[in-house]
Amino acid sequence: MPKTKTSFFCQNCGYESAKWLGKCPACQQWNSFVEEVVVKEDKKTWQGEGGKPAPVLIEAIEGARVKRLPSHDTELDRVLGGGIVPGSLVLIGGEPGIGKSTLMLQLALNVPMKVLYVSGEESEQQIKLRAGRIASATKENTWILSETDLEQIFQQAKALQPELLIIDSIQTLTSKSLESVAGSIGQVRHCAGQLLRYAKQTRVPVFLVGHITKEGSLAGPKVLEHMVDTVLQFEGDSRMMYRLLRTTKNRFGSTAELGIYEMTGKGLRTVNNPSEVLISQREAPVSGVGIGATVEGNRSLLIEIQALVGAAAYGTPQRTSTGFDGRRLNMLLAVLEKRTGLKLGSQDIFVNMAGGIRVDDPAVDLAVCVAVLSSLHDISIPDKVCFAAEVGLGGEVRAVNHIGIRISEAEKLGFTTIYISKYNKNLDRKPVSIKVKQFALLPEVFGDLFG
Ligand code: TYD
Ligand code: MG
Repeated sequence: MPKTKTSFFCQNCGYESAKWLGKCPACQQWNSFVEEVVVKEDKKTWQGEGGKPAPVLIEAIEGARVKRLPSHDTELDRVLGGGIVPGSLVLIGGEPGIGKSTLMLQLALNVPMKVLYVSGEESEQQIKLRAGRIASATKENTWILSETDLEQIFQQAKALQPELLIIDSIQTLTSKSLESVAGSIGQVRHCAGQLLRYAKQTRVPVFLVGHITKEGSLAGPKVLEHMVDTVLQFEGDSRMMYRLLRTTKNRFGSTAELGIYEMTGKGLRTVNNPSEVLISQREAPVSGVGIGATVEGNRSLLIEIQALVGAAAYGTPQRTSTGFDGRRLNMLLAVLEKRTGLKLGSQDIFVNMAGGIRVDDPAVDLAVCVAVLSSLHDISIPDKVCFAAEVGLGGEVRAVNHIGIRISEAEKLGFTTIYISKYNKNLDRKPVSIKVKQFALLPEVFGDLFG
């Protein structure tokens, strides 16, 4: 019986120490060390064929252009950089209930490949029930395995020879070669490491589902993010319809990509034209609504910003924003007071990004200011008018990046006027059906809009 060796691991970053520490020297986290049993890692769980790797001349390596496998999901293909790369390890993180399992099951049901979907969280019956709800399910070559033991999973994978492996979730897996519990940093790191070997040796792409902690980072292991090729974040408000799939790391493509889904009663639906759903359709214009032309990744979205300004019922006026940074809102309100003379001190102000989307793009500033003013004076902004500019502390209307994409998206959606900064020179191409109005100061924009 070999003597068991234990070590202490930081559950936040994976730092290993021989003794317990109160504060992690690597990530400065307090009270994050947990004792775990370690076994020398000569027992490799995944034993593939092929001997020791030897150095290869770079010119001799073939297949510099990898053939990607289409996932039959336009949004997923987009965030992966154009399809699934053979032998890649992809991590999908997100809060509970956001739809990670649904997304993965939908992928398993839709790709024309032999897929092994391993769930450590749900039984086969539960998965079958879920699959029954998904409308877009088209094929049968999907194998379900309810298992948490890594060695068992590899045995089944060896027998089945899948072309795509999905693990839901990495935190439920355990390997016998470690004695620590499922979800501990040692287990997660070991299992992910073995799955990485599996992916690289067999060229089978592997998708891992990962949970997110309350603080919003991938549960436990930063190490996990270093290991995998691609990290996708599935986010959104689980009570709202829309879900965003963002790339935060990608060895095979850009990280500026964004996929948009809608959660329906029949699974996730890809949203190919987000602007149309994010702008509500209404009969007559109402006050307090401004449309901002934002850019997320390389994708332009027109987002409806709603503001409600009313006399405060209680002593301290409220300032509430949903989907928009509260501090930024306070700053914009201060600029409005100081530079345009609006009296906002005794008003309750609510600002809301329609559709439950979170916007960090400073280009919505102008739309927020205009929406607030529109609500305060109860004058609606003309239909088919949108805005794309940052607002500075001096009340200046500042230039934003990707102005060409913003203008063409607005034009595509039938907007007739866009307000931008005077300092946005070089518009990539000449707009045809949209009027571009350029201003330097906030009062000039207001003057032009409301006369
Ligand atoms: P799930 O995919 O299990 O989320 P995760 O794996 O990230 O924890 O579930 C997402 C939620 O979506 C769940 O609360 C139920 C709901 N849902 C639908 O609204 N429609 C559907 O067709 C399905 C399958 C789930
Ligand atoms: Mg799940």
